[in-house]
Amino acid sequence: MKIAVAGAGYVGLVTAACFAELGNDVICIDIDEEKIKKLNNNQIPIYEPGLEEIVIRNKKEDRLKFTTDLKSAIKNSEIIFICVGTPPKESGEADLSYVENVARTIAEVMDSYKVIVEKSTVPVHTGDKVAKSIKAYNKHKVDFDVVSNPEFLREGSAVTDFMQPDRVVIGCESEKAEQIMKKLYEPLKKPILFTDIKSAEIIKHASNSFLATKISFINAIANICEITGADVEKVAEGMGLDKRIGKQFLNAGIGYGGFCFPKDAEAFIRIAEKIGYDFKLLKATQEINTNQKADFVKKIEKALWVVKGKAIGVLGLAFKPNTDDMRFAPSIDIIKALQKEGAKLKAYDPEAMERSKAIFKDIEYCSNPYDAAKDADALIILTEWNEFKELDLNRIKSLMKHNLIVDGRNIYNPEDVKKSGFSYISIGRRDA
Ligand SMILES: NC(=O)c1ccc[n+]([C@@H]2O[C@H](COP(=O)([O-])OP(=O)(O)OC[C@H]3O[C@@H](n4cnc5c(N)ncnc54)[C@H](O)[C@@H]3O)[C@@H](O)[C@H]2O)c1
Repeated sequence: MKIAVAGAGYVGLVTAACFAELGNDVICIDIDEEKIKKLNNNQIPIYEPGLEEIVIRNKKEDRLKFTTDLKSAIKNSEIIFICVGTPPKESGEADLSYVENVARTIAEVMDSYKVIVEKSTVPVHTGDKVAKSIKAYNKHKVDFDVVSNPEFLREGSAVTDFMQPDRVVIGCESEKAEQIMKKLYEPLKKPILFTDIKSAEIIKHASNSFLATKISFINAIANICEITGADVEKVAEGMGLDKRIGKQFLNAGIGYGGFCFPKDAEAFIRIAEKIGYDFKLLKATQEINTNQKADFVKKIEKALWVVKGKAIGVLGLAFKPNTDDMRFAPSIDIIKALQKEGAKLKAYDPEAMERSKAIFKDIEYCSNPYDAAKDADALIILTEWNEFKELDLNRIKSLMKHNLIVDGRNIYNPEDVKKSGFSYISIGRRDA
């Protein structure tokens, strides 16, 4: 099938590469000339395990192309995926101007039937608005269908998630488009749920909000554990063994970040507000998440007494492991708060340091975790990269000025760290 994918970001690039891998002819478009130039030179602009290999292979086999020319890509495709950003506006609502822009261009240039698929995360009713906008600008008066096909991939395992999804959701109100989408996704051999467009749009916001709520729930429990002297890891294990609850997303820590949960939860609150529903549960989810970062800073302050002038080593900057994505990373608020207090920061992240340079000033970037620990008064863990779990703690101790680890991701066993001679503070546990 001939597919155009508008947007070569985390979602668009993975979508384009994976559909090409399934044998389709795909053209991926972005307005960012630098990004397209890189991709045409076989350079992958993001860190995503397994992506480089399939991009290069499918380019070589001529099934995947990159361009900035949206108009000719639209003309040459039957299915057009909209995968552009929907960043939050100041109000928390999603900025749909990028989506609208692509929709208008599609309307102006399409000269044959197209299936226009919204894959970007958008508020309910966006499908209607996209259809209206295309109808209004439909220069050649051709038939088209709008479909909602929300994306559930996780950064860090995006290729696997795309190729082996738990489910594919397709909001579709035309038989013709339904058959086309079915044919496109059938090779994955995974459950496909067909719904109306509005339900598909809500499924995406509801799913992300539910997962965010699960994280905030366990973080709230972690706070109760800290006060009572219980252990949140045990509590989470005991809860998670119940199949109705499940153990995933019950890891206490410094809260969620990234380009999805914070902005999608905020957008869902605004969507609910607009239709007259006060989504108190989701507001509490967001509030707990914000507090979790502030409380972590308080833990560091309490342990160091005076933060001003202290050297703090930071392990992990990305919002989660296996990505270089820094958008809404908890590290941003935490590092900025510590800098405000006058701390001197040295940081290491396996993949996100380049992107961090645009966000933080006055940070010393280190080439490995041990350099970040050198002469530090405290070592703080903000992202649970696997390589941090296997550090030589004796070596870390010999390098640090003061043997203090504040772990925002609970990656160590408190007893083990204590045996290595550290003061250890983590989340929701009896610390050593
Ligand atoms: N990142 C994730 O993990 C994830 C997962 C599921 C859904 N989503 C949703 O998918 C959407 C995209 O997210 P992302 O992380 O890929 O964003 P991104 O910022 O990485 O990529 C968006 C891309 O769209 C490009 N773009 C903007 N206007 C364009 C236009 N007119 N024509 C062509 N390209 C254009 C931008 O230059 C950018 O490269 C968002 O709505 C997001 O909420 C993201």
